[in-house]
Amino acid sequence: MFVVKLGGSVITDKSKKYFFKKEVMDKLSIEIKKANKDIILVHGAGSFGHILAKEYMLNQGYRNDEQLQGFSLTHAMVQKLNSLVLSSLHDKGIAAVSIPPHVILKLDDHKPSKMDYNVFRDYLDKGFTPVTFGDVALDKKLGFSICSGDLLLQMLAKHFKPEKVIFALDEDGLYTSNPKIDKNAEFIEKSTMDELENFTTNSNRYADVTKGMEGKIETIKNIANLGIDIVLLNGNIDNRLYDTLIGKETKHTLIYGEKK
Ligand code: IPE
Repeated sequence: MFVVKLGGSVITDKSKKYFFKKEVMDKLSIEIKKANKDIILVHGAGSFGHILAKEYMLNQGYRNDEQLQGFSLTHAMVQKLNSLVLSSLHDKGIAAVSIPPHVILKLDDHKPSKMDYNVFRDYLDKGFTPVTFGDVALDKKLGFSICSGDLLLQMLAKHFKPEKVIFALDEDGLYTSNPKIDKNAEFIEKSTMDELENFTTNSNRYADVTKGMEGKIETIKNIANLGIDIVLLNGNIDNRLYDTLIGKETKHTLIYGEKK
């Protein structure tokens, strides 16, 4: 079984509010269908969530009543993106069901405090593809906050111990330094967490091109610590996801889970 996250930067244009990249999503749906594996799918919020969440400062928790409207609106928009993702999956013949995180989990100061994993298990056992997504969520300490797709990925990985966790990004994977500014940047095909750790001592940390990747390293570490392999791949390029799912060689970064 695999837990796969489709990053918000792959399925939306992060610079344009509510811009869904239907063609990319359709391509990914075809690859997922073709691979025919048990998958829990997580998708990011991209420009359907981040812009509003920032505007209303939702991740800082409750501060004023105006945010309530912001919370509802943000949820409605990520739910809308989720409907678009589901339609694409359905069109390609995948029995996808939506599992909105805000109804099955509760956070406590940004950390998971309660989650119903059974609903994922039950749907998987019946042959469905559960689909969850970065969302707003209730938070015991803060009133509410944001539950990112990356957090969901970590929680699902810990609980289900999948064969691999896969991130579909808008980059090929990780580099030894930022390839946009460093000509000597080398692509990392395979790495242990220790080796990867060495790159952090470098001033040009981790490589990838987007700032978002820095936060991603934390997620990667947490998943590798569970003993689970993580693959980062380019979701825009044909068959990278498909090849990875079926175990065929392709360009991607593989981070080995720590074997204890
Ligand atoms: C963010 O989810 C959720 C909201 C802003 C409501 P993610 O952090 O997983 O989204 P992406 O992948 O960065 O777009």
